[in-house]
Amino acid sequence: MKGLILSGGKGTRLRPLTHTSAKQLIPVANKPILFYGLEAMREAEITRVGIIVADTKEEIISHVGDGSAWGLEVTYIDQSEPLGLAHAVLTAEDYLKDDDLFVMYLGDNIIKEGFKSLVDEFLQNRPNAQILLAHVHDPERFGVAELSNGRVVRLIEKPQVPPSGLALVGVYMFDHNIFTAAKSIKPSARGELEITDAIQFLIDEGYVVDPHVINGWWKDTGKLEDLLEANRILLDDLETRIDGSVDERSRIIGKVIVEKEATVVNSTIRGPAIIGEGSIIENAYVGPFTSVYYNSLISHSEIEHSMVLENVKLCNIPVRIEDSLLGKNVEIIKSDAKPKAYRFMLGDNSMVGLV
Ligand code: G1P
Repeated sequence: MKGLILSGGKGTRLRPLTHTSAKQLIPVANKPILFYGLEAMREAEITRVGIIVADTKEEIISHVGDGSAWGLEVTYIDQSEPLGLAHAVLTAEDYLKDDDLFVMYLGDNIIKEGFKSLVDEFLQNRPNAQILLAHVHDPERFGVAELSNGRVVRLIEKPQVPPSGLALVGVYMFDHNIFTAAKSIKPSARGELEITDAIQFLIDEGYVVDPHVINGWWKDTGKLEDLLEANRILLDDLETRIDGSVDERSRIIGKVIVEKEATVVNSTIRGPAIIGEGSIIENAYVGPFTSVYYNSLISHSEIEHSMVLENVKLCNIPVRIEDSLLGKNVEIIKSDAKPKAYRFMLGDNSMVGLV
């Protein structure tokens, strides 16, 4: 069985971050989202993995390399245009076809429990496809399944009036029949070849499509609130580890990781929180559910329930920062320069909330 991870796409809902970076590389609990998928593949004993890449190919390659860091054999597959998930499957057909089965994983999804048991179930029952479903409160954002007596009768992509609250999770298991299905469907209203429609084709043609409703935590990290929630859930799973330096005037409360070469001086860190390699926290407060990636500086400031990426500078901020995502190299610095004024240099689609 092979793996296929989709890591193209433009990440439009996460602009401005995705103007310069791949959304799959945003670190959640200080680990790029894509790495959770690679770990899950390895755990499911799938070692040959194709990664579909597009505009952000170079960045993905520089982070994942040949996959050997995970014990994987990674092959990169270019998707010329973002024409949909079923189009991505067809793009990978040559890579996939010498093996009858594959698991497809959307690179911006995180499934806390991984998918080893689901792959095992698929191999044991051998339907033509196995889909994962999860109960959500906003099904109109997803592909939605209608079940009857435990069988899938209908799948609809982003319906205005959802027939159920069961969303398609971004992990799918297929045999070769999905290629015929993907070639038989027409582009949707958003101009994409939808994997949802390809699976509906399988159902209509009498192939066996097994649904599996998962109860564990799952997230499609498409929006800021989703990322903050994912960060919150995954930080909560960490165990305290202090590899960096924490001076005697600082207080570490709850589950906190301070990575090597990170420095905490005269500050309070209330976990769950993680301070990445080489970051400096001085005369500051870092509150629950906050991750600070590497080489960032938080000085004379307070921050909580936020994600701070690499090389950020946050200095002398008079009001606590909350519910925020600060992209790499962002600087927020209060200065005494006159005239007294806010001075911004913000990328397109930036959001600033002032009090
Ligand atoms: C895609 C699929 C959708 C699925 C979702 C899961 O949506 O089209 O059916 O529920 O992934 O993350 P998209 O990310 O393209 O909006």
